[in-house]
This record gives sequence, structure tokens and C-alpha cells, in this order.
Amino acid sequence: MIVLNTKTQIKETVREIKKKGATIGLVPTMGYLHEGHGSLIKRAVEENDYVIVSDFVNPIQFAAGEDLESYPRDFEADKKLCEELGADAIFYPDPEEMYGDTFLSHVGVYEITTVLCGKTRPTHFSGVCTVLTKLFHLSMADRAYFGQKDAQQLAVVRRMVNDLDFNIEIIGCPIIREEDGLAKSSRNTYLSADERKAAVVLSKALKEGKELIDGGERDASKVKDTIVSVIEKEPLAKIDYVEVVDWDTLTEVSSIDGPVLAAVAVYIGKTRLIDNFIK
Ligand code: PAJ
Repeated sequence: MIVLNTKTQIKETVREIKKKGATIGLVPTMGYLHEGHGSLIKRAVEENDYVIVSDFVNPIQFAAGEDLESYPRDFEADKKLCEELGADAIFYPDPEEMYGDTFLSHVGVYEITTVLCGKTRPTHFSGVCTVLTKLFHLSMADRAYFGQKDAQQLAVVRRMVNDLDFNIEIIGCPIIREEDGLAKSSRNTYLSADERKAAVVLSKALKEGKELIDGGERDASKVKDTIVSVIEKEPLAKIDYVEVVDWDTLTEVSSIDGPVLAAVAVYIGKTRLIDNFIK
């Protein structure tokens, strides 16, 4: 496995790969890799001739006061995992290499980026779309792999790729969880022992909401109320949002007829965690 640090290196590498007619799979990450990321890498290795994992904590998707500086990093461990899982290259640029000091462009997707996480993080998805546009171009990937863990991100990327005719296929992959149900996340490392125990309330509440739908409930507000009431029983939890939305448009639904996304963002102490299900 090779490490690519510069845009020139990745461009030269993929040009050679493409000349051979091989397919390229890209797994975009911010590093501190866990089994959630691992599941995407495994799938990419199964489905492509050449797999690139990007490992880049993207500064422009963090707002002032968010956790850019404290975001966990461990490049040596990331490299080891990528190698074990059969990736061919890691793209590991520094922010200066990605953005220089003359950067003036941003990619915007409207409406679906102003709901759910976009309400409290209004600049986040533009930062995500901009870095992904760069990574898609640099990697010349045929397919890119995303986790349903960040369901809104997946919906936004699909929309961008469709609206702007990107020549890449977006593959969504299931959420990987800890044994007690907590969705794996690089940010789980911020939790104290007590908070870690409390954090299980997200998946527990969503499970109850899902069971209601499985039992035939079609009233979205009842599903939402159930999820809220389970979370509110946990003293360390503070709700940012609980929403049941149309899985395509991310607009609120009153009745559950087509595919819906039930999504939550909850503060456990100072750490904001997200989780969801699609039904
Ligand atoms: P990051 O948080 O590192 O996540 C990288 C990818 O791993 C995302 O597609 C995310 O949904 C997926 N992922 C994380 N936890 C997962 C889990 N428990 N199960 C399944 N998949 C999981 O998301 C980002 O980075 C960035 O916004 C990025 C897309 C790289 C742009 O900077």
C-alpha cells in the first residue's frame, strides 16, 4: 500500500491505473478509523480493482468553536488498518496542500442542507461538498463509499452527484454498531465512562421508534414523541433534534407512507452524537 501526500502524486497514480482500464473505489474519511470505516473499505475492495482511502480532517467543514483542533488523529493506526483490509493507497494531504492560500470556490447544495444537522451547522455541508468534489476529481474514482451513519451527508452527496452530473456512483453502506447498539464514531472517544453508558440511549430510542413503525404505526409525530420520551429519560442527554423526514427530500412528513429517515442528534455531556434509521 502506498501513501500519497500531494495532489500531483494522486493524479499521477490514478492516471496510470486508468490507463490499464482498472476501476477505482474511493473511501473518503477524516481518519481515526474504526470498524465503521473498515466496512466501507472492505466493500470497496470487493467491488473495485484499486482502492484509495482518503484520510483528511477537512477544516472547511468545521465552524468556529467546533472540534477541528481536538478531532482525534492516529495516522499510523489508520495506515495499518487500511493495509490489513487490502486498500491500495491512502491519500493523506495536509490542509495547505488541499486549499493553499488562494482558495475562493465552494460547492453548494440547497434546501436539504438547511434541515437536520444543517440547522445548527449551516456551513458544514458546503465544506463537505467542496472537499468531496476535489476528492472525486483527484481520485477519478468510479465509485465512492459512504456510511448511512451520516444519512444526511449521504443524501446531500447523492443529490450533488445527480444534480451536477458527476461521473461517479455513490454507494451507501449500513451503520456499524458497538455491541450495546451505540453507532461507532470517531467522536465516541470524547465520552467519559458515564457518558459512554448514557450514549446507548440514541440507538435504544430509535429502536423503539422503529418497532412502532414495524407494528403498523403511520403517524410520524407518534414515532417522534416515542423517540423523544426515551431520550428525555436519560439525565446526561440533551436533544438537539429528533426528526422523521422523507428520505429523498428530507422534508418533514406527517404520515409514514414512503421511505422515511428517522434521525436524532443528541448531546451527551459536551459531545454531540448522531444516529438514525431508514424505514
Ligand atoms: P468520517 O466521519 O471519518 O466518516 C467517513 C465515512 O465513514 C462516512 O461515510 C461515514 O458515514 C462512515 N462511517 C462513520 N461511522 C460509521 C459507522 N458506524 N458505520 C458505517 N459507516 C460509518 O464523514 C466524514 O468523515 C467526512 O464528512 C467526509 C465525507 C470524509 C468529508 O470530509
